Amino acid sequence: MNVSTLNVQVARKAVEAEGVCTFELVETAGQPLPAFSAGSHIDVRLPGGLTRQYSLCNDPTETHRYLIGVLREPASRGGSAAMHDVVQEGTRLEISAPKNHFPLAHDARRSLLLAGGIGITPILCMAERLAMAGADFELHYCTRSPARAAFLQRIRDAAFAPRAAFHFDDGDAAQKIDLPTLLSNPVEGTHLYVCGPKGFMDAVLGTARASGWPEARLHFEFFSAEVGPMAGDDTFEVKLASSGRTVRVAKDRSVVQALADAGVVVQTSCEQGVCGTCLTRVNDGVPDHRDVYLTPEEQAANDQFTPCCSRAKTPLLVLDL
Ligand code: FES
Repeated sequence: MNVSTLNVQVARKAVEAEGVCTFELVETAGQPLPAFSAGSHIDVRLPGGLTRQYSLCNDPTETHRYLIGVLREPASRGGSAAMHDVVQEGTRLEISAPKNHFPLAHDARRSLLLAGGIGITPILCMAERLAMAGADFELHYCTRSPARAAFLQRIRDAAFAPRAAFHFDDGDAAQKIDLPTLLSNPVEGTHLYVCGPKGFMDAVLGTARASGWPEARLHFEFFSAEVGPMAGDDTFEVKLASSGRTVRVAKDRSVVQALADAGVVVQTSCEQGVCGTCLTRVNDGVPDHRDVYLTPEEQAANDQFTPCCSRAKTPLLVLDL
């Protein structure tokens, strides 16, 4: 982490729903925390060295605490398991200052907020912000069951509850979300925000794009990409534009790892194509994008990629390094 590192400790840890814990973080010396806006996240340096991103889900006007909600991922690569098993009340953590890659559009006349599972964390913050501003919005929250729905009571008790609809996988067919109908009419001035697991996001964004929503009115934040070796991954080379040096990327190594082996450090954070920290310009060659950070248009431009997880479709990529 860099100069904007904050030292915090866990003031309260609570079970919020099945598989979900919330952590209330306060500045270690009792100082106020930097302000944030709805949709912001922080990087959390976990015991064990991993860094993970968690959205802030408390009222953005609060400066005495940050609240995050963490789902224990069954296929955790160590991040959520460490938060659930190792981090306790009193644990001190290093975090980044809040960053916002998922801000509300201030010119929206209406906002459609869609959350899948733990994706509710930034979406809830947005709903509360919009409600406070008296803005027009609708919230749809999809989870497997009420028991697994974090912040269910907070939403039911909120003044904006009439604007919120719940969709449970284990509920009857009538309450299931009907994306083609919900997204069928991309009215001018309406913005769509979506956060949740990749399958949910792909379904929402795919339906929206097929219904003619312009990209500028689609706002999304993925929690994790499905990174890792894929069948057919092959060896390729990357060339550093500054020195002309060429580095071979073996099929079981990432570009970041291969460069590190060659003594070239690329700054990373999530290492799973989510945060954009490692974003690197590509001067020549075609990347094989595996991230969820860049938009489809940005990926199609092929002039930048995330070397923590993305690979190459051509035998050589020339990198602006
Ligand atoms: S380190 Fe986060 S996208 Fe590469």
